[in-house]
Amino acid sequence: MNDFADLHAEQQQGWDKRWQTNVIPFDKGAPHGAFTHFLKDAGQGDVPDIPRTGKALVPGCGRGYDVHALSLLGLQTTGIEVSPKAVEEANKWIQAQPAQPKEGGGSGVVELGDFFKWKEGEGDEGKYDVFYDYTFLCALPPTLRSSWASTYARLARPGSILITLQFPLNDPDLTKGPPFSLSEELYVDLLQNEWEYVWGRGVDEAQSRASNGPEGRSQGGVDVNSFRKGRERIAIWKRK
Ligand SMILES: C[S@@+](CC[C@H](N)C(=O)[O-])C[C@H]1O[C@@H](n2cnc3c(N)ncnc32)[C@H](O)[C@@H]1O
Repeated sequence: MNDFADLHAEQQQGWDKRWQTNVIPFDKGAPHGAFTHFLKDAGQGDVPDIPRTGKALVPGCGRGYDVHALSLLGLQTTGIEVSPKAVEEANKWIQAQPAQPKEGGGSGVVELGDFFKWKEGEGDEGKYDVFYDYTFLCALPPTLRSSWASTYARLARPGSILITLQFPLNDPDLTKGPPFSLSEELYVDLLQNEWEYVWGRGVDEAQSRASNGPEGRSQGGVDVNSFRKGRERIAIWKRK
């Protein structure tokens, strides 16, 4: 059976075409600065810790920067991509990284698949301990949002951690995505039944700048840093 049977074929081909033709303005060449900072801060002060062993999942991971970052923590990390070209690019990039997970610890690989049809292993052990969602929810047609939430719930066990780097928040101009405008309330609505909200903070402009380049790259004539200012937030959720 075609793995993408339920995903609109046009959508899957559309994403692959973007990767084939290099129309990927979302690709910043590194993890978002706010994610890197969170991983450094986790477990200190009021910042909650996340598991450093077990399995992690990053849907719509693009070139796999975040897959690699989580693997270095010690997590066996899988990225999922619908675009065969993104899968190829991501695994090439991950393997070329000088810093590799320590033997016996983490690992990072990107697999071809549809998040909504992703199969976890048997029992609690087959489920994932950590999830990272960045520029994935905003890439989906709004009709898929409740499936987005139910798929995370299905792949998690009690205590699993979901990290959401929320972007773009409250942008009235983004009714036609992707990216589609999101809001903090939307995340709460989608997640509150199955996940407990643990912690969150707005993204510091300097962390955003670090991801976009000091001058901010122009994207469709708009300075990326001004476009992102005040529209990003990182939050941690624990599966009930
Ligand atoms: C906006 S891009 C973000 C990529 C990456 N998170 C980043 O920030 O560089 C969204 C990605 O999700 C992938 N994607 C879209 N629908 C998907 C699905 N149902 N399952 C897995 N990946 C999907 C696309 O191929 C695309 O690379």
